[in-house]
Amino acid sequence: MDRKKELLAAARKARRKAYAPYSNFRVGAAVLGGNGRIYSGCNVENASFGLTCCAERSAVFAMVADGEKRLREVLVIGESAEFLPPCGACRQVLAEFAAPEAQVHMCNAKGTCRSTTVGELLPFIFHLHERGK
Ligand code: THU
Repeated sequence: MDRKKELLAAARKARRKAYAPYSNFRVGAAVLGGNGRIYSGCNVENASFGLTCCAERSAVFAMVADGEKRLREVLVIGESAEFLPPCGACRQVLAEFAAPEAQVHMCNAKGTCRSTTVGELLPFIFHLHERGK
């Protein structure tokens, strides 16, 4: 299986675990770490809506919790006919661990994806320290 197909399969699997009783919009994400492993996540909502965590951030946090801080590639899939672009907060979180050239695949419910990069999604990235510190 090629890498993008693996990411898509992992994101779809994670989407099934989404906790989205308020929006009823399930999202799954998968990220490829620098170690070659795939980490996945789903959206987890909360009765206090602002505490909701998006699928992309769940996947990135799973990667970091496993000890990997280099993010090579991202795929996100929702339940809409449109491609699902990561929200602004997730773009900043992706940019913390990914190079601007890292690929981001934004997929629709059918699994058709539009691909872009972290740098295209978030130009002029804010970093507090130089990368790697
Ligand atoms: N959501 C994500 O998980 N990722 C995105 O990129 C956009 C939005 C979630 C958050 C919330 O649970 C639901 O989708 C509706 O906004």
